[in-house]
Amino acid sequence: MSSSKPRIGIIGTGYVGLVSGACFANLGFPVTCLDVVPDKVEKINRAEPPIFENGLDAMLTKVVREENLLHATLDRVETINSSDLIFICLPTPSEEDGSINLRFITEEAKEIGRVLATIDDFKTIVVKSTVVPGTTSGVIKDLLEEYSGKKAGLDFGLAMNPEFLMEGLAISNFTDPDRVVIGAIDDRSFQAVAQLYESFDCPIQRTTTSAAEMIKYASNSFLATKISFINEIANISEQLGIDVGQVAEGMGTDSRISSRFLRAGIGFGGSCFPKDVKALYAVSKAIGHESNILKATLQTNKTQPLRVVQMVNDMIELKGKTVALLGLAFKPETDDMREAPSIAIASSLKSKGAIVKGYDPIAKETAEIAIPDIIHCQSLQMAVEDADVIILVTEWDEFKNLQPKQLEKMSGNIIIDGRRVLNKELFSNAGFKIKILGQN
Ligand code: UGA
Repeated sequence: MSSSKPRIGIIGTGYVGLVSGACFANLGFPVTCLDVVPDKVEKINRAEPPIFENGLDAMLTKVVREENLLHATLDRVETINSSDLIFICLPTPSEEDGSINLRFITEEAKEIGRVLATIDDFKTIVVKSTVVPGTTSGVIKDLLEEYSGKKAGLDFGLAMNPEFLMEGLAISNFTDPDRVVIGAIDDRSFQAVAQLYESFDCPIQRTTTSAAEMIKYASNSFLATKISFINEIANISEQLGIDVGQVAEGMGTDSRISSRFLRAGIGFGGSCFPKDVKALYAVSKAIGHESNILKATLQTNKTQPLRVVQMVNDMIELKGKTVALLGLAFKPETDDMREAPSIAIASSLKSKGAIVKGYDPIAKETAEIAIPDIIHCQSLQMAVEDADVIILVTEWDEFKNLQPKQLEKMSGNIIIDGRRVLNKELFSNAGFKIKILGQN
């Protein structure tokens, strides 16, 4: 192991923690990952990713097996003792009212404080979890100081370094980011974190810890709003006989707007956008500000998945009909079912008396847990067999390349494309009734 490079501790090996840890190790930093789940720790030490993420497998093999730069442990004291910087990468789940629950973070801050109390070395604590503005310099700093009996800025460093990793692209997002944001309480804390990103060819923005926290929420909320906005335009365009694809292309070539996150469809899901927009809305409400924009973003996203059900309903009576959902994960290249639009679609179809089948190339086990009351199929062929209707829910490559002959065993001929990836003419010419969201 290299001794000249700062050593990194990662607390929490969820997808943010593990990807960040693996990528830091890949840059040559010695990394210790802490988790409370023994199975995860064992898997990581065998270089087996406990989550599905493109490229993580190969990267773990390199940094765990070949270079011995990353290892996982259940031992917090070992993690903190053997690290110069300690990244908190723990989840911040949603409460009923949309606000975030900080229990994992606060418990961890106390534990870290207790360990800091026993050592003399200067450590920098870095918050990577998504926390609402004011959390790092408020709750976390206070707990670290209380439980260590030490002073932030004097005895230990403190920073907030938000992540901008898209599932499925997390490794390339980490290694080649648009920017790195470091919110720091002082120069020393900033320098400690900035040195980790020295080799990066992107702007490194220094902010306060609260601004860094807000940048994360504002970025996710803006992207989510962009999606809800184009979905609104899609719904209006559809009624007016306009293809929203042409509209998005025309808008997206304006460099002030950009074409990214302008793909209309059945709405955004995942563990971040819905949760983060709700949390920012809750924060604004708590300070007496009613955010109409965030509220509308959420409202549009709530009804958007049901558009495809409405489209089928306008064509046939759903009661007793078999509907096959192609794709269940919230987006391609992941097995993540959190807040996946497929959940609302399946539930609405079932409430209308339809028999619902589902197939996802990767999200099989996770989908069976998230939507237990539909028929889960192991292949595309099994899903389409005897289906009256198919609804394309997640734009996996397997479905983008769908050919009419693969649908020969359907008993009906209705296709609804909720992700706008199918060629309408191809299926119309083969005798299918195909409707594409955002197109008349
Ligand atoms: C998102 C952000 O993009 C990351 O920058 C951020 O770090 C991450 O949340 C997080 O906070 O951890 P992710 O949830 O992995 O990443 O997924 P995205 O690729 O951003 O997609 C989110 C949802 O928006 C998906 O359901 C996707 O289908 C939908 N989407 C995306 C659209 O409907 N249209 C688009 O044009 C783009």
